[in-house]
Amino acid sequence: MRPRYHISPEHGFLNDPNGLTQFRGKYHVFYQWLPDVVPQGNKQWRHCISDDLVHWTDEGSTLQPKKWYEKNGCYSGSGIATEDAYFLFYTGNVRDAEGGRETYQCVAVSDDGKSFQKEGPVIYLPDGYTAHFRDPKVWKKNNSWWMVVGAQTKELQGNVALFESNNLKKWDYRGNLLDPSMDWGYMCECPDIVDIDGQQFLIVSCQKETGCKGIVFSGKMDYIEAKFQLDDVGNLLDAGFDFYAPQSFVDESGRCILIGWLGAGELEYQMSQPTVEEGWLHALTIPRELFIQNGKLHQRPVKEFERIRRHERVIEAEGYTFIDQETWSVELLAEQLSSQKISFNFGNVLKIYFDNNNLLIQRKHWNMKGYDEVQVEISELENIQVFLDQSTAEIFVNNGEKVFTFKAFFTDEKGIEIESEQTIL
Ligand code: FRU
Repeated sequence: MRPRYHISPEHGFLNDPNGLTQFRGKYHVFYQWLPDVVPQGNKQWRHCISDDLVHWTDEGSTLQPKKWYEKNGCYSGSGIATEDAYFLFYTGNVRDAEGGRETYQCVAVSDDGKSFQKEGPVIYLPDGYTAHFRDPKVWKKNNSWWMVVGAQTKELQGNVALFESNNLKKWDYRGNLLDPSMDWGYMCECPDIVDIDGQQFLIVSCQKETGCKGIVFSGKMDYIEAKFQLDDVGNLLDAGFDFYAPQSFVDESGRCILIGWLGAGELEYQMSQPTVEEGWLHALTIPRELFIQNGKLHQRPVKEFERIRRHERVIEAEGYTFIDQETWSVELLAEQLSSQKISFNFGNVLKIYFDNNNLLIQRKHWNMKGYDEVQVEISELENIQVFLDQSTAEIFVNNGEKVFTFKAFFTDEKGIEIESEQTIL
């Protein structure tokens, strides 16, 4: 069940992507990792390196919780590449015997992109917050370095703290980014600010009583007032069931690339997944380029994935079409759909239906009868691109205007069935 072209652990538990950057030409991705298949524990950062965002080498566990300020976990954070060094910012998580929590925003530095020296905490918990204060994300703008940290205020509401620095070592607190009169849930995890073609977005993983979701808000980052001014009420960044804690970075060619955790959910839901028996759990999504089309944020798989296409087949489908294939590591690109009534069935595990502005996706449950489903209204259907990889599914609709990420545990039924009214390519 291990994916062929996704990052996943050989053994143990994976969660958030961390420390993303391109340093001296090479792409670096870390992920939250535990050697055993258990969701909670003293998290480490496992390191992967790539030349092309597709083929990764596993560099092992690079940040391990050994110092007093991180003794219960090197929690999530981000990466910055400068001319001379690669900086990692992360949260040192500390628990005491009474179950209390302390949090330290820490830095580790490397000059070769392989071994990192810990320099310890650079930010201590400011007044006004509980110890749910984590996941530093750093970027550069207007000759300053900026950091957002996911936070819970003393009023037990989610918010995002902003810091500024001119040397990446000494950080000044600038305030709370978010309007507290809005419902951000009880904690904002993994905040991120992205700037694409002059349009700005806040991405945040909100913990609410109703569940935890990665949400994207369009707006303006006001660096003077230290506020993110919202232009909309927010949208799910990905409407599938198995997506959380995304992080972006800008590569050397200027692309804004996002990777998410292809996992998440309630403890029982996670631990019931069949890969647990193989000794590993979860994956990262494929890297997706963020771009603007018609003023709206879209996500597309990075173009490097076109280079690993093998046994490519071009089919003109009309009526009932059956595609026989040998593997569940598959890319399917259906174009020229012209909003017709259409359905796709991948081995009775994943089904996609479109009819009359209604898009329905069903994913077979692995230990219960029946399907989980998600339904959205879309005004038209132009194209669908589906990436399957043994136990994962990522569906990009209309050039990635909508994206859906799922676990999908395929069986021996190999074929793909398509039913369409008119010809599709
Ligand atoms: C999000 C998260 C982060 C935290 C990390 C710990 O999934 O809870 O807020 O830093 O996971 O593994």
